[in-house]
Amino acid sequence: MNKSKPQKKFTKIPQHIAIIMDGNGRWAAAHGLPRLAGHKAGTENLRQVLRAAVEFGVKYLTIYAFSTENWRRPKEEVKGLMLIVEDVIERELAELHREGVQLRHIGRLEGLRPQLIEKIKAAIELTKDNKRLVLCIAFNYGGRDEIACAIKRMLNEQLDPDTVSEDLIGEYLFTSGVPDPDLIVRTSGEMRISNFLIWQSAYAEWYISPTYWPDFDKEELRKAIIEFGLRDRRYGKISSNQVES
Ligand code: IPE
Ligand code: IPE
Ligand code: MG
Repeated sequence: MNKSKPQKKFTKIPQHIAIIMDGNGRWAAAHGLPRLAGHKAGTENLRQVLRAAVEFGVKYLTIYAFSTENWRRPKEEVKGLMLIVEDVIERELAELHREGVQLRHIGRLEGLRPQLIEKIKAAIELTKDNKRLVLCIAFNYGGRDEIACAIKRMLNEQLDPDTVSEDLIGEYLFTSGVPDPDLIVRTSGEMRISNFLIWQSAYAEWYISPTYWPDFDKEELRKAIIEFGLRDRRYGKISSNQVES
């Protein structure tokens, strides 16, 4: 008999979930496979997590796919990761577009191979008017690099120092126009930020899952959202229900 468990209702849905998709290498090792097989499995997994996010009503999903520090990995792994992204864009773009997903890239395009840059630009252009979910792909992304780039642009534009505010800085970041993440999920049990959204995460809730990314499925995402619903986001106040006085 098919006795499916009744699903818990969410009390709160994060508008923006950001995920540090970690543990592909350990997943591969646990299966006796090369690291790149772990990255491929991780990429496959993204499809169902993305679908689940759309279904749950999440509006922004940011995924950490390649950090500015990941260039330090063995050449073959870096090359493999680049080819995987290119391949994913090629295979998935039409479907993502049909589903109303808007693609954004956060990070630097410089340093990527021209074919990949073209594919990223074309994907952004094709999906720019889609409204169902914004998928920000953090690729060749580093939070410190992002802040350094923002400062450089602000100085180049000779901004009046008195106009500099937190909001203005936000406009110069790669994430301009995207609300700060409400929930940051990191898979594989690691408890560190690894240079991800260091400005934007000021008041994000954290959820660490011990599951390696290729096994982090819809139910795991559901658990993360349920846990988010239990958090009291105080933003420095004594309670999120505090009456303003
Ligand atoms: C995350 O998985 C994917 C990338 C960083 C590209 P890892 O490759 O970091 O997996 P582990 O941490 O070695 O298990
Ligand atoms: C963070 O994971 C980057 C991505 C998931 C793309 P890493 O595996 O590179 O992080 P560290 O090196 O363990 O901090
Ligand atoms: Mg890792």
